[in-house]
Amino acid sequence: MFMKTAFVAVVAASILTTSAVFAGPTAEVLHYWTSGGEAKSVAVLQKEFAENGGTWIDMPVAGGGGDAAMTALRARVLSGNPPTAAQIKGPSIQEWYNEGVLADISSVANSESWDKLIPPAIAKQMKCEGTWCAVPVNVHRVDWIWANADILAKNNIKMPTTWDEFNAAADKLKAAGITPLAHGGQAWQDATVFETVVLGIGGPDFYRKALMELDPAALKSDTMIKVFDQMRKMRGYVDSNFSGRDWNLATAMVMNGEAAFQIMGDWAKGEFLAAGKVPGKDFLCGATPGGGFLYNVDSFAMFDVKGADKKAGQLLLAKLIMGKNFQKAFNLNKGSIPVRTDVSLDDFDMCAKLSSKDMAAATANGTLLPSYAHGMALRGAQAGAITDVVTAHFNSDMSSQEAVNELVKAVANSY
Ligand code: BGC
Repeated sequence: MFMKTAFVAVVAASILTTSAVFAGPTAEVLHYWTSGGEAKSVAVLQKEFAENGGTWIDMPVAGGGGDAAMTALRARVLSGNPPTAAQIKGPSIQEWYNEGVLADISSVANSESWDKLIPPAIAKQMKCEGTWCAVPVNVHRVDWIWANADILAKNNIKMPTTWDEFNAAADKLKAAGITPLAHGGQAWQDATVFETVVLGIGGPDFYRKALMELDPAALKSDTMIKVFDQMRKMRGYVDSNFSGRDWNLATAMVMNGEAAFQIMGDWAKGEFLAAGKVPGKDFLCGATPGGGFLYNVDSFAMFDVKGADKKAGQLLLAKLIMGKNFQKAFNLNKGSIPVRTDVSLDDFDMCAKLSSKDMAAATANGTLLPSYAHGMALRGAQAGAITDVVTAHFNSDMSSQEAVNELVKAVANSY
């Protein structure tokens, strides 16, 4: 307790310049964690913040993947009234930094030795011209397939390890009157499925060329045609009400036995856990076919705001987010694994342990890849151009060749 109080006092003293009254650390936090599992997770942070003398002003913006939150954030920043902290990640951190609107949180990063605790590749994304401009929360894996254990057992189906096996399982389930794939028809969910198919069918090098380097040869290749062929198959495996459905409602379909599989990042596990479901018993987790590891790191950036209380709130928030206890408690709920390398996974479930093991292997063999669908690989304009084509294809009878042509065009026009 002394340590915590002392921290607040030191921070307050160091930033009290001309302002008269210090009301205590305050943070208005813009985030998009509104589903069952997400709300449980963010509550861990709110509680710790309050216990450390902070006043949290919540600004949740519903909408999976954060598109709506980013629109709300832009409006706030443009009107000259940015939130104290916002959930942003990947290359968009640098984009915001280049607009000159982010605060420098290096003082807390240095005093807490973040450089020793965060994998270098992730630390790099949190730094802007050598200063720390964001704090990482977790490592989500995107290339997961979730399954209803009962449905698989009753239909004598094993977790698929190739896309052919997936198709065979899905065809069998469809013939038995079961919806094979729970999916929400929102652009970012289509993109989530698409990137796992790109990785699975093309392999890590193809993923890198197509979705990170935007290499025209990869974008218009026969491999990309096969990717869209598989996407067309996936479209046939979803139910007729998929349009506009939120991702967590798709997860609920798997949970309730209304569908067999969902392809979604491990925030879906947060939903299963929040509903009291047990991995390995009620639901199964496995990497999507093909190898590699698509990572998605949530992080918060602090905005350049006025007021000693808000500045103290930013530093306190950043310190707590990287705290060892928080990293464990939050990630147990969120479905992700801690970004800190010194947090024991003993209390984590089998899916988290698999994620950590696969991440280490992928780091070692060069197949650890940033998720394009979750804003880790590309700048917004390029990612958006790809997603528009993926969604247009998924929701129409566009051929794979047409989709590839559109993809090449859309990417070329996005610069
Ligand atoms: C975020 C997760 C979030 C998910 C659904 C992802 O892009 O990284 O934290 O739970 O979207 O909103």
